[in-house]
Formats: sequence, C-alpha cells, structure tokens
Amino acid sequence: MTSHHITRLGHQGDGVADGPFYAPLTLPGENVTGKPDGRTLCDIRIISPSPDRVTPPCRHFKSCGGCQLQHASDDFTAQWKRQVVKAALAAHDISAEIGPVHTSPPNSRRRATLAARRTKKGAMAGFHARGSDTIIEIPDCHLLHPELMAVLPLAEDLALDGTSRKAPLAVSVTLSLGGLDVAVRGGKPLDGPLRITLAGLAQTHDVARLAWDEEVIVTRRPPKQEFGPALVTPPPGAFLQATAEGEAALLAETETILRNASRIVDLFAGCGTFALPLARCAPVHAVEGDRAMTEALDAGWRHAQGLRPVTTEVRDLFRRPLLPDELARFDGAVIDPPRAGAEAQIAEIARARLPRLAYVSCNPVSFARDARHLLSQGYQIGPVRVIDQFRWSAHVELVAGFTLNRE
Ligand SMILES: C[S@@+](CC[C@H](N)C(=O)[O-])C[C@H]1O[C@@H](n2cnc3c(N)ncnc32)[C@H](O)[C@@H]1O
Repeated sequence: MTSHHITRLGHQGDGVADGPFYAPLTLPGENVTGKPDGRTLCDIRIISPSPDRVTPPCRHFKSCGGCQLQHASDDFTAQWKRQVVKAALAAHDISAEIGPVHTSPPNSRRRATLAARRTKKGAMAGFHARGSDTIIEIPDCHLLHPELMAVLPLAEDLALDGTSRKAPLAVSVTLSLGGLDVAVRGGKPLDGPLRITLAGLAQTHDVARLAWDEEVIVTRRPPKQEFGPALVTPPPGAFLQATAEGEAALLAETETILRNASRIVDLFAGCGTFALPLARCAPVHAVEGDRAMTEALDAGWRHAQGLRPVTTEVRDLFRRPLLPDELARFDGAVIDPPRAGAEAQIAEIARARLPRLAYVSCNPVSFARDARHLLSQGYQIGPVRVIDQFRWSAHVELVAGFTLNRE
C-alpha cells in the first residue's frame, strides 16, 4: 500500500495524485492509500475525506460504470465542470463569463445504451461495470427515466432469443411519445424465425418500435419526438439530446442568442431539435450529414402547423462546409457538431462574417479551438452555459453565443 494526496480530477472523473496515479471514486484534497497497478490505484481507502464527498444515492454506484461522480456533491460537480470549460478556454487565451450550471435532475435520462447477455441461468441486462466488460444489473438506477427501466426485461429476452454466443448485445433505448424506441446491435443475423420472435417480444413488452442492426422489425406506434410544434419520427438509434430538461435549456439559450435573427441556418441539425422550434420565428435551413435524419425533420415540418419555411440539405460539413456565398443569406446560425468540433465550418462562418452564432458543444476542447478562431476574426463571445445532461458523469456540454464585433 502507498499513500497519496489527490490533487485534481482527471477528464474521466478519476482523482489524480502525483505520479500521476489515477484513483477512481476519490476527490481533490483527499488523502488515500492504495495499491498501484500501473498508473491506477486499487483497493483504495480514503484516509481523510473531502467535505465535498457525499453518500452515493444509488446502491449500484460502487460497481456500475454508468455513473462516475455520485460520490461528489452536486455543487462540487457543477464547479468542476465550469472549471473544465474555463481551463479549455484558458489554453487558447480566452476568458469568458461562465454562467451557472444547469443540471438535469436524477432519473431524467431518456436515452441510453445498455448491455445484455446470456448467462448460464438465463440472461442479464444493465450497464457495464466500471472499467470492465462485466454487466451490472441496475434495478434501482437513479440515472434513467423510470419509463426507460421497462427496457431491462426486454433486453434480457432479446439476449436469450437473439444471441448465439456470450458476446453482449448493445440495446439502445429512447423514450418517445409512443413508448420505448429500441434499436439493437450485435445479435444473431436476422432470418425469418428470428424476425417472428422479435416481433413477438416487441408485442409482449409493448414497445413502440424495435430495430435490429438498423432494420426495423416492427413499428407498433410511431416513436415520435416533439420539437416545438412539430412531431418527428427519428430513424432508429438517431441522436437525441440526453434529457428533455437539457434540451429545453439548450434551446432556451439558443433562442436568446438568435432572438434578432431573421434567417437561420442550423448546422449539424440532426432531426430538428433546434431547427423546428426556431422556425416558430424565422425561416430555417437545416444541414445534416445523415439523410434519414433530414427526411424525418422534413416530414415533421410538413405536418406541423404555424412554422416558417424549413428547408433541409444532406451534406458532410467536415468535407464540404457551407461556403461564404451560401452563408450570405443568413443572419444567424446554430451549430451543434460531434466531439471533433467544426473547424472547417467555423472558418467559413468567420469568412462569411455571419453576425450571430449559437454554438452547442459536447467537447470543451474542440469548442475552445473553434472559439479561438472566431475571436481572432473579430467575434465576441457571450456567457458560456454548462448544460449538464450527463449528471454524475465527467461529460461536459455547453452552449455559448458569438457576435461579430462590427468596429
Ligand atoms: C451532437 S449531434 C446534434 C444533432 C442536433 N443538433 C440535435 O440537437 O439533436 C451532431 C449531429 O451531427 C451529425 N454529423 C456528424 N458528422 C457530420 C458531418 N461530417 N457532416 C454533417 N453532419 C454530421 C450527426 O448525424 C448528428 O446528427
């Protein structure tokens, strides 16, 4: 056993001591003992606990890999996430106001991917254990929306009937207005008998839609999502903001940033999370790389009442960003790229002198890089808001506005 002082949290939420040694489930300021296994400490004992340490609310927390930070107070986690953003910006010499953190409540996750596998006695479903392939059952999960929990018995049945070996199934489930929308990967190849079995399971477990390796087996009720006044049926497994509360907070910030915009472009638009509600006030052009998502967005707009025109375009914005002559017709943009950020598109936005931009990011590092470019081209950054849809995790999401400094 060796003694260590935890100085900070690493990006995965583990405590970090000099060395560096990584100590899962510890907090800055704590003195601990542990057994080094490479750079990770095992058999950790907390010698002096941090005042920010709390009793984890969930009994699965110690082993389950679904959460990383239940041992820290909400205040501590919020301040830590603000600090992660501040440090990412500081690395590019940017100082910005970082507003209060909006944290989604417990039991609000409406989308998750669970693992399910056959066992000697039957099957089990849950999250992977921390740092391992073992599956931990989570009957008292504090993260998932209560209605999402109904997927657990279904996931077990899917593993029993749909896997021929011990490899786990990945069961993605999304809460929709029609009930559970389930998309499964990693099971047996589909054949006639399996299709019939899966359709039967969908009925027994009353799911809205069941897809197997992207093929829809059955849609019993349309798995619609509500984006403003529009109802959208996303393709199976499509991206959706992780909580309804987080989505509402991101949208409210975006609407504030773009309140004076009269023609908006939504870049990396998905199924229209931002485009459709924004179209209550201004026409929107929604650009997205996935055709099925743009088709869902378009169908949602066509059936909605009271929206301004919404047009869609399928385009790879990494390889073919919208160019200044295409951006010239807009006076506002929302951009919500994947983790890599939007380096190429941001360069074109700056060249186009597009006057206002709401940037939604799931990666403070790529966000800070893109922010640096905008600032170097005469933009000003507004307050940054951390919207914590991934409570008890090390994941950081944010939204910020940029306006062109016309002097
Ligand atoms: C973080 S999600 C945001 C989606 C949407 N704004 C929302 O809030 O639901 C990022 C989106 O970017 C799309 N995407 C990923 N790579 C892309 C690319 N190279 N070009 C265009 N879209 C891309 C994904 O399909 C996904 O819909």
